[in-house]
Amino acid sequence: MDYKNVLNEKLFSINRSPTLQFTSLAKQLKAEGKDVINFSAGEPDFDTPQFIKSAAKKALDNGITKYTPSTGFFELKEAIAKKLSIENRISCSAENIIVTAGAKFAVFLAILSLVNDGDEVIIPSPYWVSYPEMVKIARGKIRVLPAKKENNFKITSQDLKSVITNKSKLLILNYPANPTGITYTKDELEMIWRAIQGFDLFVLSDEIYEKIIFEDIEHVSFASLDGAGQRTITVNGFSKSYSMTGWRIGFMAGPREIIQEASKIVDNTTSCPNSFAQKAAIGALKNNKDWFKFIKSTFQERRDLIYNGIRGCKNIFPLKTQGTFYLFCDISRTNLSSVDFASRLLNEQLVSVIPSPGFGIEGYVRISFSTSRENIEKGIARIKKFVSNI
Ligand SMILES: Cc1ncc(COP(=O)(O)O)c(C=O)c1O
Repeated sequence: MDYKNVLNEKLFSINRSPTLQFTSLAKQLKAEGKDVINFSAGEPDFDTPQFIKSAAKKALDNGITKYTPSTGFFELKEAIAKKLSIENRISCSAENIIVTAGAKFAVFLAILSLVNDGDEVIIPSPYWVSYPEMVKIARGKIRVLPAKKENNFKITSQDLKSVITNKSKLLILNYPANPTGITYTKDELEMIWRAIQGFDLFVLSDEIYEKIIFEDIEHVSFASLDGAGQRTITVNGFSKSYSMTGWRIGFMAGPREIIQEASKIVDNTTSCPNSFAQKAAIGALKNNKDWFKFIKSTFQERRDLIYNGIRGCKNIFPLKTQGTFYLFCDISRTNLSSVDFASRLLNEQLVSVIPSPGFGIEGYVRISFSTSRENIEKGIARIKKFVSNI
């Protein structure tokens, strides 16, 4: 049977996730007994902390094993709203929140809720791999806005003005950013906000890496800017901040009217996020100060180690990560394409990194430093050897 005729034709324009593909290749080599250094991981390498697991165990013992309200337990939505109000200065309450099966679904839900056929969605590049694919599924029109290297890959109001039209519906921001590790200051966000005010444009602000941010850099939520909350959907979740990638709990926060309509999609698709993982998330929000100190200092030490090490490698030029656990490196001076660079590095030195075409740019690789110091040191030595032999 020719399944091509059966399948929804939209699928032919959608790509597999290149990050997941490279990560699974590295895992496969490791399973075959090879000493692979995995610099491709998109998740913290720590186990979920014990206090969160205990909350989940307690929930299981108490029989929290059934459907929950489709948008999440009220208690969790209240706790998220409190967190957003206090930490992020976004004024909201439980009715502004939908808890989702991971932040990825929250991003998709926001896009599905706002984008009509042909509406333009502005995606600054380099971007997280899934945004364009989600926009395609929603039949939106992708407007990639290349951010300039000399601006540290941050868009400016000038950049924005060059792409906004009256068909623009949504601007997707992500900071600290995957893959660049760069974040925006309050002033820069305010300039973006001013640039879009004359248009009917909504902002989807994906702030999933907010807690992995270094030195004394402050994370500012777009929705906290004066008046911006009316036109912003904030996405966040527990995957990266609490090392809970497998638990699948994320959320979106936005104006009540949008939340009410978007709820129809979850009612009729996922039904609800996992019941006892929601209880674990409530536990996570209660007792997290020491945990945040630990992840911040650990990732910052590793960032320093890898940044200094990679800077010493011939023809590789890393950006200094401000947040996330990714180091974004210009490898164009090696004269290899990023896919060749990543494939050869994996085959010849057993180091796995992510090439950049999936992020909407060529000439870079993303190195994840979500691994031990020992692995980072080994990986740097192998990369050094690899580039000096090209
Ligand atoms: C920028 C960004 N947004 C969203 C997500 C999705 O997070 P989750 O695992 O909670 O679905 C990721 C995961 O890699 C990400 O990098």
